[in-house]
Amino acid sequence: MSAPTHIPVLLQETVEALAVQPGGRYIDCTLGAGGHAAAILDQSSPGGQLLGIDADPEVIEIAKARLEAHSSSILLVNENFVDLEAICIKYDFLPVHGILFDLGLSSLQLNNHSRGFSFQHDAPLDMRLSPSQEVTAADIINTSSEAELAHLIKTYGEEDYSHQIAHRIVQERPINTSLQLVRAIELAVGRRRGRLHPATKTFQALRIAVNHELEHLEVALKQAINLLGYEGRLVVISYHSLEDRIVKQLMQQESKDCICPPGVPTCVCGHRACLRLINKRVITPSPTEVQLNPRSRSAKLRVAERLITQDEYYRTAEEHSFSAQLNAEGWRRSTLLKKLRIAFSML
Ligand SMILES: C[S@@+](CC[C@H](N)C(=O)[O-])C[C@H]1O[C@@H](n2cnc3c(N)ncnc32)[C@H](O)[C@@H]1O
Repeated sequence: MSAPTHIPVLLQETVEALAVQPGGRYIDCTLGAGGHAAAILDQSSPGGQLLGIDADPEVIEIAKARLEAHSSSILLVNENFVDLEAICIKYDFLPVHGILFDLGLSSLQLNNHSRGFSFQHDAPLDMRLSPSQEVTAADIINTSSEAELAHLIKTYGEEDYSHQIAHRIVQERPINTSLQLVRAIELAVGRRRGRLHPATKTFQALRIAVNHELEHLEVALKQAINLLGYEGRLVVISYHSLEDRIVKQLMQQESKDCICPPGVPTCVCGHRACLRLINKRVITPSPTEVQLNPRSRSAKLRVAERLITQDEYYRTAEEHSFSAQLNAEGWRRSTLLKKLRIAFSML
């Protein structure tokens, strides 16, 4: 990969939404080229700490070089954020003041012609975030039935022509490169419809399927809420409606005291709000940002704050410390609880 060229989206808005404070502890679940991470570290200095996570090992190396000046305040790990809670327990990184998800891919990955993410360059149809994953986009394309492909392209790509595209893919198989797939899509639906390239939605669908993006997001967001300390902030930037729907629904649900269906006369669910919505309306980039960085045009930022009492917090901490005891040899529960109490009182 060449030198970092990814421009962080909604940078100032993200730092404000996280309410970054000197000495705070933050997690960037989607480290990428480290653009947001650098701004968080600048703002949380002196004493700030950042845990940066990325599933892509190549990206971690780039971020490491970029964040060298902050090396004593960062911990960068090449993991999938679906394991967020286990990662925090493993590295003793909790509670936290803020957690960021800047979803999707960085320009580094999109511009890397060997990964198969782009429909503008020929490359093996891979699309895995990490080489440790087993299933590639080519595997899905060449082994799924026509009905499975149509369902996948419709569900994850919201593509109206999913059946025509799936039918043509099956006729053209084997398909092993990105431009072979583009050709099959163009044969199915023509070269260009409006401003969107005809392959856009199918490529999005495949990438989501290969990396289990929606399932992992849902799991990780729930874990993130539990890792936030008192008034900790959860900030998510999404780039398409499928991601944004998951974020919006979870934040709305977790900010309500009752989630009984309408018409139930008295509450039977016992649900209690654990989040407070900070922005009622979604935050989007200014026209100037979109002009400077067209990739930001579909970005939507949502932010919520953790509602938690000290008692509740200690209960969660006890649960965390119990798993830590199971997972990390040599960890003593009483020591961990003492650390958590000190960290909590500093929040
Ligand atoms: C939009 S980029 C982040 C850019 C970053 N905020 C910056 O300013 O440079 C998204 C990053 O998230 C990573 N990513 C996506 N899904 C992930 C997952 N489930 N676990 C860990 N990293 C993931 C991608 O590899 C990519 O590097």
